[in-house]
Amino acid sequence: MLSLVVVLSAVLATGSAQAATNRFPDSFLLGAATAAYQIEGAWNEDGKGESIQDHFYHNHPLLGLNSTGDVACDSYHKYKEDVQMLKGINVTMYHWDLPQALQYLGGWPNELMVDYFVEYARILFENFGDRVKWWITFNEPAVFVNWYAAIGMAPSQNASGIGDYLSTHTVIKAHARVWHLYDEQYRATQNGSVGITLNIEGLEPATNSTEDAEASDRARQFQMGIYAHPIYSAEGDYPAVVRQRVDANSAAEGRPRSRLPSFTQEEVDYIRGSADFIGLNHYSTDFVTSGGTGISPSKTRDSGVITSYNEAVPWGFRSLLNWIANEYPGYPIFVTENGLRNSGGRNDTDRIDYYIGFLGALLEAVNVDGVPVIGYTTWTLMDNVEWSLGTRAKFGLYEVDFSSPNLTRTPKVSAGFIAEVYGSRELPEQYFR
Ligand SMILES: *[C@@H]1O[C@H](CO)[C@@H](O)[C@H](O)[C@H]1NC(C)=O
Ligand SMILES: *[C@@H]1O[C@H](CO)[C@@H](O)[C@H](O)[C@H]1NC(C)=O
Ligand SMILES: *[C@@H]1O[C@H](CO)[C@@H](O)[C@H](O)[C@H]1NC(C)=O
Ligand SMILES: *[C@@H]1O[C@H](CO)[C@@H](O)[C@H](O)[C@H]1NC(C)=O
Ligand SMILES: *[C@@H]1O[C@H](CO)[C@@H](O)[C@H](O)[C@H]1NC(C)=O
Ligand SMILES: *[C@@H]1O[C@H](CO)[C@@H](O)[C@H](O)[C@H]1NC(C)=O
Ligand SMILES: *[C@@H]1O[C@H](CO)[C@@H](O)[C@H](O)[C@H]1NC(C)=O
Repeated sequence: MLSLVVVLSAVLATGSAQAATNRFPDSFLLGAATAAYQIEGAWNEDGKGESIQDHFYHNHPLLGLNSTGDVACDSYHKYKEDVQMLKGINVTMYHWDLPQALQYLGGWPNELMVDYFVEYARILFENFGDRVKWWITFNEPAVFVNWYAAIGMAPSQNASGIGDYLSTHTVIKAHARVWHLYDEQYRATQNGSVGITLNIEGLEPATNSTEDAEASDRARQFQMGIYAHPIYSAEGDYPAVVRQRVDANSAAEGRPRSRLPSFTQEEVDYIRGSADFIGLNHYSTDFVTSGGTGISPSKTRDSGVITSYNEAVPWGFRSLLNWIANEYPGYPIFVTENGLRNSGGRNDTDRIDYYIGFLGALLEAVNVDGVPVIGYTTWTLMDNVEWSLGTRAKFGLYEVDFSSPNLTRTPKVSAGFIAEVYGSRELPEQYFR
């Protein structure tokens, strides 16, 4: 969760061509995700420089509850064991973080990052493109650009309502350039797919009022549409509601121009269609109502939405998948993160219940509603360094004993459950009412 870059996985199709609700389609990809900073450690080995995460937690140890990614799960050295763990559930993987040296140039609000990012992507395509067929340019930009707006996580820039929109603008341009790079120079020989992973909660209306229905759509446009509309919609550019509201608030604040930058028509055309699939990270549902909250200026205030409460409801996932399929028709959806945080323990029956609910909702969206979901990777393979929550937040299928010198990995009962579902490529009938 909140990873700067996600890792992807693939399993070749096995199983029969049965079209039952509880079965994954034959070509459906199943796996588990992880992220570099959260598991690898070896922060300064083999010529690796300092990333914004290393810099931040070295300078603010208490914000990471004294846990940093310096060693984390030490996967950099324990990769052989970890690959065995992955094989147990079938996965291949891949990932990345912003070098601190580029943050010294301003990081994502600086449009020069587009050129640096394109050169970085070129190195990855050149070196790994023969084997990696699923590429994600950015993981959860809505989360990491927020740390240009707020303090508490890297790079902690406190430029609310400005640094986040500037970063968003750069990230979208960088994504489009990388997709075009792949399309023009690598696709013919490497034959892979390039997408971006966006995170979004359920964002359901709190009541049946028209106002709350509008608030729900607005919340989705500010959270996901701000990235997805320029890339995946038929018309391109930022969603109209986002454009109007940020422009209007900027004018009311007496600014000479909008806090949200504009694309030229040429850029709109270049960005529109620059993806092969939609990556989606989803955990739970927020219930929303219309109203003003948050400091001024801020994206929260611009959106005019108040979040009333949050629940992990599988139907919210199914509803969201349908909204995405309607909003951005023609694009396959790859669920790249979904999982449960708990307080630990190997007998994680709560995590199994969560997966039963969410995999059931996913299968209904695919097999009943016809939503084109093509893959699913759980978050996450093993307990890790969950950014500012340190090692206390447990999301793993495998437990890591952070107090043992060996950082011992032990499968939880959920690992067995996931291996069974992946192996049989179905969720037992009994879980469908
Ligand atoms: C972090 O380390 C400091 C200094 O050793 C200690 O006082 C503090 O309680 C620790 N905090 C946590 C959350 O472990
Ligand atoms: C963050 O920015 C706000 C608004 O400019 C300011 O009031 C606050 O002191 C800043 N906080 C820090 C820690 O810099
Ligand atoms: C490219 O991949 C697609 C699907 O992944 C496959 O159907 C096609 O045969 C591949 N083409 C080449 C040239 O490998
Ligand atoms: C909305 O209306 C439906 C159908 O009338 C009803 O079942 C549901 O409970 C209502 N939801 C809320 C949040 O009021
Ligand atoms: C695991 O938890 C479940 C549900 O709380 C319980 O029924 C079961 O006995 C537990 N198993 C073990 C081995 O502790
Ligand atoms: C450390 O991990 C390795 C690899 O899993 C294992 O073979 C070894 O027994 C472990 N050592 C201890 C002391 O747990
Ligand atoms: C992993 O994939 C292999 C080859 O497709 C298959 O034989 C095996 O059953 C899979 N294992 C699991 C746990 O899914």
